[in-house]
Amino acid sequence: HMSVQERIEKKRNAALAGGGQKRIDAQHKRGKLTARERVELLLDPDSFVECDMFVEHRCSDFGMEEDHNKYPGDSVVTGQGRINGRLVYVFSQDFTVFGGSLSGAHAQKISKIMDQAMLVGAPVIGLNDSGGARIQEGVESLAGYADIFLRNVMASGVIPQISLIMGPCAGGAVYSPALTDFTFMVKDTSYLFITGPDVVKSVTNEDVTQEQLGGAKTHTSVSGVAHQAFENDIDALLNLRDFFNYLPLSNKDPAPVIECHDPKDRLCPGLDILVPLESTKAFDMLDVVHSIVDERKFFEIMPNYAKNIVVGFARMNGRTVGIVGNQPKVASGCLDINSSVKGARFVRFCDAFNIPIITFVDVPGFLPGTAQEYGGIIRHGAKLLYSYAEATVPKITVITRKAYGGAYDVMSSKHLRGDVNYAWPTAEVAVMGAKGAVQIIFRGKKNQAEAEAEYVEKFANPFPAAVRGFVDDIIQPSTTRKRICRDLEVLASKKQTNPWKKHANIPL
Ligand code: COA
Repeated sequence: HMSVQERIEKKRNAALAGGGQKRIDAQHKRGKLTARERVELLLDPDSFVECDMFVEHRCSDFGMEEDHNKYPGDSVVTGQGRINGRLVYVFSQDFTVFGGSLSGAHAQKISKIMDQAMLVGAPVIGLNDSGGARIQEGVESLAGYADIFLRNVMASGVIPQISLIMGPCAGGAVYSPALTDFTFMVKDTSYLFITGPDVVKSVTNEDVTQEQLGGAKTHTSVSGVAHQAFENDIDALLNLRDFFNYLPLSNKDPAPVIECHDPKDRLCPGLDILVPLESTKAFDMLDVVHSIVDERKFFEIMPNYAKNIVVGFARMNGRTVGIVGNQPKVASGCLDINSSVKGARFVRFCDAFNIPIITFVDVPGFLPGTAQEYGGIIRHGAKLLYSYAEATVPKITVITRKAYGGAYDVMSSKHLRGDVNYAWPTAEVAVMGAKGAVQIIFRGKKNQAEAEAEYVEKFANPFPAAVRGFVDDIIQPSTTRKRICRDLEVLASKKQTNPWKKHANIPL
């Protein structure tokens, strides 16, 4: 007979062994780490505090009740720990136990740490690697998903939620990551889809591989489902640690400030000559971003999707900021459906979590065409406008060059409660470019070239906006960092609230 102490030890060891050495080897052979190895890499050394190591599934069909089908802890490792000393809750699905599939007990473990994270106000990180619903459990497993979805929704805007997809994630399993704030993927070993290639073939007769259907490349460049992809498990987990440092712990927590060795009054002389004299020539908005932020460090979100807008996190004088910029290098920086949605979701995340937003504008307007109109650019473009308008965090805007038409209004303009709005001397704020404008207002009435020159003289400069107070100042580009750092200090105590409502009704 074993003593209780021996039984405890035995169960603990069984939990640590997951699905056994053979399955662990298979996991490694695929280039994947185990659930526990991942947790170790993600968290500070020795900081992981595990919960529910003794939980077992409760299924008694299909022989599941037999001892050899019980794994202490079941198919997920849960608990809390620290990333750079800051608290985080984490769950890591264990593919070596029933393919990481979600049983009622597995879902209950995840729900428990999510509840705890909400009570103390700390983010939740999910490491996903699962064959989906535990088939032997039927509705019990589906109920488990819904319990998690509900918690994802309740936690949305309260604590940051991050998903890292590190293996399969299919069927109902995709909706928890989809509800979280950020979804990252590992290249070649992770995929997300509602139905797999076989079902696709039988329903639509399309031939498609797992990778084409739901791999990292697809979701970071075509569907926009995932926000970034990393090379392998280690790369992904280290990047996740880096990313975590930008985030506040909850919506009651200010964005973290770290010690900054980059002088806040540093001038950026390169910016004085960055914008080309010809307004049709492109420049790289990332050059502006890199020059201005602390130590040129920029964590870009969705770098390969809707590249006509750039979004991501950086720091100014040590304080986290969200950066949004039109990218003149891609489609002239036009706003279209995908860039509007990308920008809107980012702005709303920043606003929900007290992260000031800095917007760099060079936008010739919304992208014309039937594809855009039929796709609903009107309601999608409205999302970005809506997000900026409702945002109450500090908002600083720099018009670097074009700010044309409705897109001028959208891009964190003064009219949408921009706190500080600057124009560079190269700014042009107008309803449209000179050529188009002259064709409409002087059709056949005037010498076109003369009319264009007159229009440019009148509108292709920052004064019409500046004389009306729609920009607060015209600044030398090299002073932009200095000005923004100073503004952020002033705006740190900004307080603004929107009218009471049950919830708003953003156009979806
Ligand atoms: N429920 C219960 N057990 C599952 C499971 C599930 N949903 N998915 C996988 N498993 C088990 C397998 O039976 C296998 O068990 P074993 O180690 O005792 O042999 C183990 O997990 C690994 O699965 P396997 O199929 O060998 O791995 P793979 O890498 O070849 O394939 C998947 C992975 C996810 C593609 C495949 O397992 C699969 O299609 N699973 C079902 C997915 C699904 O339709 N889920 C329901 C939708 S919500």
